[in-house]
Amino acid sequence: MAVPDPRQARTPLFDAMVELAQSRKVSFHTPGHKSGKGISTRFRKFVGPKIFSIDLTTLDEVDSLQKPVGVIKEAQELAALAYGADASFFLLNGTTGGNHAMVVSSTRPGEKVLVARNCHKSIIVGVILAGARPIFVPVEYDTERRLALNVRADDIEKALRAEPDARTLLVTSPNYYGYTVDLGAVARLRERREFTLLVDEAHGPHLKFHADLPLDALTAGADICVQSTHKIIGGMTQASILHARAGRVDLSRVAASLKSLQTTSPSYILMASLDLARMQMATEGQKLLTRVIELAEEARAKINRIPGLVCRTREEARSEGLGDIDVTKLTISVIGTGRTGYQVSQELNRRFDIQVEMADPAHVLVIVSIGDRKDDLSRLVSALDEIAREAQAEARPKAALVSAAPPRIDNPLAILPRDAFFAPSRFVPLEEAVGKVSADIVTVYPPGIPVLIPGETIAREVAEYVRAMARHGSIMDGLDETNTRIKIVA
Ligand SMILES: Cc1ncc(COP(=O)(O)O)c(C=O)c1O
Repeated sequence: MAVPDPRQARTPLFDAMVELAQSRKVSFHTPGHKSGKGISTRFRKFVGPKIFSIDLTTLDEVDSLQKPVGVIKEAQELAALAYGADASFFLLNGTTGGNHAMVVSSTRPGEKVLVARNCHKSIIVGVILAGARPIFVPVEYDTERRLALNVRADDIEKALRAEPDARTLLVTSPNYYGYTVDLGAVARLRERREFTLLVDEAHGPHLKFHADLPLDALTAGADICVQSTHKIIGGMTQASILHARAGRVDLSRVAASLKSLQTTSPSYILMASLDLARMQMATEGQKLLTRVIELAEEARAKINRIPGLVCRTREEARSEGLGDIDVTKLTISVIGTGRTGYQVSQELNRRFDIQVEMADPAHVLVIVSIGDRKDDLSRLVSALDEIAREAQAEARPKAALVSAAPPRIDNPLAILPRDAFFAPSRFVPLEEAVGKVSADIVTVYPPGIPVLIPGETIAREVAEYVRAMARHGSIMDGLDETNTRIKIVA
């Protein structure tokens, strides 16, 4: 086991916050609740008084995120050291805010950017803010298991060859289901052709700290990556980090973009959680993650013995040429039970008090993390076993599954996303939208990947897929309130 760097035991921001809270200075500044003295009694009774004493604002003792010169600077430098970055930046609006800044700071208006088509909505918003021209790289689908996998290095190479003037590549790795892009192979493409590699690593803040997890983006050669510390490790909700390497990326542009896009009143509680989560991973991540991997692998093996359920192993994924998977995600195919992922997820919740991360028509997705215990996973496995056995015994007709994977999205870009976003627009029924230009991002949740972006001509298969998913009860973003009309460029 590698010996942790002793510097990583430090938590400069959290320590300064505790010291300031304990000094009990009289406050005539924000936040208005004044260390909790003015907070609602119900709130204080439930969470206790201490949390309010560290809900601070920018003060000399605790530094400023907009212009860090003290403990925030030190905390960000420790994060950079732990992750192997030249600079790391604390994010208060999740990876969403980091993705906006990553795109804005790395592209120019009108410039071509290669974007993996499974990107999160926040990447598209970044493209709109930047005024860039996205060229999409197709995503590999597992049609049998109805699962969107990720983009292949070969397809990225093809896209680079087809677009000789594109200088930036944006990928998501791992994706929500834990499937990675072969980032090592992608980075090696730069031996023949220079480009900036930007990685949405929302689901990978833990990868750096265990050799049995897929290669993390920075180690593979990414220039910027953004991680949701709050999703997978010990950050509090909304707390993420952007890591950057100097060279292809101008670090001062990254800092300036973040300064423009982030709040001027960052939550110190969220920032402290980033300081502590980094310390925890850097000092004991390997031990904690060894346990997480053991728990997840044990559960995976048991789930694979339950009739009707399949949870792909790392070996299978590799042998099928799919690249790597993060084994701490359990993507459980439930097609064999005859139930949809939504039904299984609801049963787990209503009958067994178990809540999963998400469900789609064919899967439930379970995140196993440093907060889980053996008992929690045993409960999950026995509940799944009961549900699957009941489904088999009922022998009722198989649930009509709608395809989980959207059709191969091929909506040609008629105008720049930014121009479409700001153009006059109107709503039309979905069946009348084919051939028209979308004015909004249309996303089907889960997994929240845009099926249409502003400026794209709406293909028939995509309009039909959106209608089917809306009828099926998926959460739709980008349609009107009746889920039957779509915004087009007027
Ligand atoms: C791949 C990906 N990128 C970005 C985001 C946005 O991250 P955050 O919720 O931290 O803003 C998500 C959220 O689910 C995501 O799955």
